[in-house]
Amino acid sequence: MLEDWLAPKAAALESRGLTRRLRPRASGEVVVDLASNDYLGLARDPRVVEAAVEAVREWGASATASRLVTGTTALHAELESELAAYVGQETGLAFSSGYLANLGVITALGGPGTLLVSDDHVHASMVDACRLSRSRVEVTPHNDVEAVAKALAERNEPRAVVLVESVYSVLGDAAPLTELAALAVEHDAVLLVDEAHGLGVTGNGRGSVAAAGLAGAGHVIVTMTLSKALASQGGVVLGPSVLRDHLINRARAFIFDTGLTPAACGAALAALRILSEEPSRPEAIHGTAARLAAACGVTASAGPVVSVPMPGPREAVRAADLCLANGVRVGSFRPPSVPDGISRLRLTAHAGLSTTDLDRACDVITTAIREAS
Ligand SMILES: Cc1ncc(COP(=O)(O)O)c(C=O)c1O
Repeated sequence: MLEDWLAPKAAALESRGLTRRLRPRASGEVVVDLASNDYLGLARDPRVVEAAVEAVREWGASATASRLVTGTTALHAELESELAAYVGQETGLAFSSGYLANLGVITALGGPGTLLVSDDHVHASMVDACRLSRSRVEVTPHNDVEAVAKALAERNEPRAVVLVESVYSVLGDAAPLTELAALAVEHDAVLLVDEAHGLGVTGNGRGSVAAAGLAGAGHVIVTMTLSKALASQGGVVLGPSVLRDHLINRARAFIFDTGLTPAACGAALAALRILSEEPSRPEAIHGTAARLAAACGVTASAGPVVSVPMPGPREAVRAADLCLANGVRVGSFRPPSVPDGISRLRLTAHAGLSTTDLDRACDVITTAIREAS
């Protein structure tokens, strides 16, 4: 029965060049990494690895249950308060992934009486949260401030939340945070900014909300993942303490989910401390991103993501395969992972890449694009 049901769906994807396949990764593999989200190059930093190991020794391999059941470890508390202080927010609450942080906060604020105004390019976790929230949702064209203003002005709901990413994950461009925050004040709404690709990169590492002078503003909420610049796993919602209390009581993705693992907490905390002690790391990401963009002939991005349009999905996969065969890993994004339907190579800039590796990577990528197109 499953065969009849699923095989035609698989064939339809295959005929359009959109099948996704898992590939093995060898542990000692040596490649220039321009695909992962390890922006600060900390995932294998001995201090981060050791902190994860130490956390497991002290607290065990699992958080063992929801934090409402087995409690909050000192590591959770330190991570939340140090991250909040670093990005200038009053409080933080950790979830077991960035996906769940978005799901938790958006569903806890949503429901009848709340309008969600969602930018057309937001991450799948926010899209899914909108669907789950039972709110009315208005999807506005990408970065269209006037469309957001109209949606807020014409609403009947007493409450509204505007959903954006500070640096968009596929195109790599930035949201107009200052204008959106002003609109939120004018229309008595809340602005929720996903800083997955801003933390550790923009605003000297403190993110785009801090860079825009909006950190700690009562009408701005921030979500972050720990899985990118902080080289770990997990997510955090940051904002005023009234929000944190609400989430502990209302966010089902927090209440009914096992707490963030001690290893992930320990690693993220160590990475955060390195980030605050070594402020030159974020700057290196921008230099690398600019170099990659120039080599590929695309506009420089606002953060670590350099997005290179390709003629189609097959060409994108072929170019990424050619890069890997030559020792450079890049991402290939195809529908439905691209908001505008255009398949592309997605290059992520990392701190700590040597000039030699970067030069070689630029050669390999430009040759692969030429050969695959
Ligand atoms: C913008 C954005 N938000 C949320 C997530 C989800 O974070 P996590 O991988 O921690 O679930 C990601 C990517 O993974 C992302 O790019």
